[in-house]
Amino acid sequence: MTTVIDGKQVAASVIEAVKSATAALEAESHIKTGLAVIIVGDDPASHAYVGAKSRMAKESGFKSVQHTLPAETTQEELAALVQSLNADPSIHGILVQLPLPKHLKSEPIIQSILPEKDVDGLHVVNAGKLAIGDLDTGLISCTPAGAMIFVKRTHGADLSGLNAVVIGRSNLFGKPMAQLLLNANATVTIAHSRTKDLRAVCRNADILVAAVGRPEMVRADWVKPGATVIDVGINRVPAPEKGEGKSRLVGDVAFEECAKVASVITPVPGGVGPMTIAMLMANTVIAAHRAAGKPAPKF
Ligand code: GUN
Repeated sequence: MTTVIDGKQVAASVIEAVKSATAALEAESHIKTGLAVIIVGDDPASHAYVGAKSRMAKESGFKSVQHTLPAETTQEELAALVQSLNADPSIHGILVQLPLPKHLKSEPIIQSILPEKDVDGLHVVNAGKLAIGDLDTGLISCTPAGAMIFVKRTHGADLSGLNAVVIGRSNLFGKPMAQLLLNANATVTIAHSRTKDLRAVCRNADILVAAVGRPEMVRADWVKPGATVIDVGINRVPAPEKGEGKSRLVGDVAFEECAKVASVITPVPGGVGPMTIAMLMANTVIAAHRAAGKPAPKF
């Protein structure tokens, strides 16, 4: 029997743990965990994501602040806002929603966030800590951290002897995911668009993680029988069967056929997606504990 991971349920269990840790910190230290989310411009998809993040922060018991800036905001104005949030002791996490409007450079903005408030895990200090295996003082990018929770709940914390293949080499996901798997003792391959015989590489994976942004690219004959398959892709494709102009979401994995071969698989939607916001909340309450000099909760 194939297990289909229910990402909503796992995310809800993470949020419950976040709520307890938030309440305990407030009771013991009178510190309310604070998250600031910045959005520039009016991209509807980004506004939907940011709204969901702000709502979840409130539900978790945080002080939740959203800064909505007009599309014409200058680099200097945005930088000044980040500086003021860096200096604000009531804010423990800062997230700048990406992508920014074209005239703004995102990298200097991301790198100007204090690493201890970088709850997206995108600062080079946090990327570097992950690279040297320091998982105790850095903050880990939310989507790989969420995907890793699925891996650990399936295989335990020690992946010794298991082959893991990550398809995709982005800074936001592929690289940190590979580092997390390596840190847990897996034998890790990072595959990408220039990899020779991708199918054969993937078929060797006990843990296959797909993050390429190509709808249903991973087929059944790419999957090792009994493997764990984690699908990080979110692709909108036309769905004429639902009516003219309609669309649906699919992952990077051809779910129906791969589910017949894998022993554990994540669906899209409802797999890794819900974990990203949950891990953002987890990172924020971790940052608040560290700022208070308290041992941080583990997720
Ligand atoms: N835009 C889409 N995903 C993300 C994310 O994880 N973090 C940020 N900051 N922006 C995003």
